[in-house]
Amino acid sequence: MHHLVRTLCAAGAVCTVIASAGHAQSVESGFTAMEQEDFATAYRALRQAAAHGDPRASALMGKVFGAGPYARTPDVAIPQTQTAVRTAPARPAARGRTLAPLVIRRPPPRPFAVPTRPAPLTDEMFAPVDPVLADIGRDLFFDPVLSGNKDVSCATCHHPTLGSGDGVSLGLGTGAAGLGADRAVTGPHAAEERIPRNAPALWNLGAGGVRVLFHDGRVEHDPARPGALLTPQGPLDYMALESVLAAQALFPVLSHAEMAGRPGENEIATAVAEDRIHGDTGAWGLLAARVDALEGYRARFADWRGRTAPVRMGEIGNAIAAFISHEFRANDTAFDRYLREEAALSPEAGEGMRLFFGKARCGECHSGPLLSDQSFHAMGEPPIGPGKERDEDGYTRDIGRAAVTLDRGDAYAFRTPMLRNVVHNGPWGHAGAFSDLRDFVIHHMDPVAGLDRYSPQAVLPQLASAAPDYSALSNRMQVGAVKDAAARTMKRYAMPALSEGELDMLMAFLDALGDPASLNGRMGAPDSLPSGLQPDR
Ligand code: HEC
Ligand code: HEC
Repeated sequence: MHHLVRTLCAAGAVCTVIASAGHAQSVESGFTAMEQEDFATAYRALRQAAAHGDPRASALMGKVFGAGPYARTPDVAIPQTQTAVRTAPARPAARGRTLAPLVIRRPPPRPFAVPTRPAPLTDEMFAPVDPVLADIGRDLFFDPVLSGNKDVSCATCHHPTLGSGDGVSLGLGTGAAGLGADRAVTGPHAAEERIPRNAPALWNLGAGGVRVLFHDGRVEHDPARPGALLTPQGPLDYMALESVLAAQALFPVLSHAEMAGRPGENEIATAVAEDRIHGDTGAWGLLAARVDALEGYRARFADWRGRTAPVRMGEIGNAIAAFISHEFRANDTAFDRYLREEAALSPEAGEGMRLFFGKARCGECHSGPLLSDQSFHAMGEPPIGPGKERDEDGYTRDIGRAAVTLDRGDAYAFRTPMLRNVVHNGPWGHAGAFSDLRDFVIHHMDPVAGLDRYSPQAVLPQLASAAPDYSALSNRMQVGAVKDAAARTMKRYAMPALSEGELDMLMAFLDALGDPASLNGRMGAPDSLPSGLQPDR
């Protein structure tokens, strides 16, 4: 019923409404809209009256939308009944003068509840980070020594100065130098292909609730076996990995395009090509030996574990995970402060939140404290770039989750992203097809129509040898399959069309998911590395 009204009156003693003579019309339409729970229109109407210089409208708007539904102790509210709403503003308009404030009794207090408003993401939801291990992890994260050709590190694609991503749609791995859009092909092992997916931001991956990693979830907790993992290399029980995040860190080093290099270029890449991964002569054993050979790692690991022993790949994974969990934590956003009842949201962001968890239905997938159901949905993002698989038909495509589960029902489905700091992590989507977040959201709400409208806007580093980056979009079969998959999702999760004003508020809410402190970096880049190689800074 009176969602906002209930909320507003929750703590106030009386509900006071002041009606303006000059702008009674928009003030009234604001009230009517509120009655119909159309808060976006209500907000616009009040804002309009306020913009016309009506001080009471702006005071009311500030109280209703600012200190109202989004604060702990709202001190003002609006009428409960149709009569109050209709008559209060109308009369003064007719007579050209202002009535005395209308006083209305407060309804019984009710608990404040946005439909599926999640619990805040708190530090207690993260496993405690060992600072000594995180410090070793920082060096490993920045050290190109973990790449076959010693020319690219984790930080190259997940840099603290680039919001823990790489700032481009599809990046370049080994065989290139520089950061972000300036990254350029170079050296004897020059890169020949783009990385087929967007490098995701690494915010909050140390949270205990994170069960599944990568856009397609190919590293995850085994739902059938508590404490066990599912990975492309099996359960990895022997490695004593502390988390799914620690397991994930072992995989970029095996990717030819990301870190390993091409077969023949170095011993790691050759081992991967020959499917030697485990054991002393496998790619992981060879990398661990490289690290073990460096005093700056060997001695620190020995200190940390309290005994001398060769450095193992599992320890490297655990150290990198500790660093990621500490460095890339973003749970002090305006939204989290609001959920912890520490501060109000701005009026726009508050209305955006209401849309997000209500009418716009975003919260059905972006749910829970992490703002992700950690499940997979086909959202019809335009397929761009080289694609992840090459099929017998010669076309490359990225079928997402289906490549992991081999279930056709999962075709073109990707994991729901967690959204904190999202405005700082463009380009957006699993292939980075959008560099304009508003465009992305419009597409996201109606992907089938969006696919016909898409205008190329990817941010791509120069790469002469790249195949045409948008060619998949002219493949009718493929675009048709992406559309069919998205249409199936929309049958279940159809999102309503939103007005421009509503979209403004949704965008303001996404902005309120930013954590400024996290974006400054915590430990940041090290000055130098145990390998003597240069960290990307
Ligand atoms: C060349 C760029 C590149 C490098 C180097 C790189 N990554 Fe990534 N990273 C990516 C891309 C692209 C993805 C998404 C891949 C996918 O989903 O298939 C990814 C995914 C991830 C994820 C999963 C995030 C999530 O939300 O599921 C983590 C964690 C991660 N990388 C950490 C690392 C670590 C640790 C290293 C170093 C050992 C590393 N990355 C090196 C590009 C890179
Ligand atoms: C049916 C589930 C679902 C619903 C409903 C949904 N999303 Fe998403 N969202 C996803 C998935 C899955 C992705 C990743 C899609 C991809 O990369 O292919 C995503 C991606 C995003 C991204 C890009 C994140 C990034 O890092 O690239 C944003 C922003 C976003 N959603 C916002 C919203 C908003 C706002 C709404 C409501 C209007 C919404 N979503 C509704 C599932 C959903």
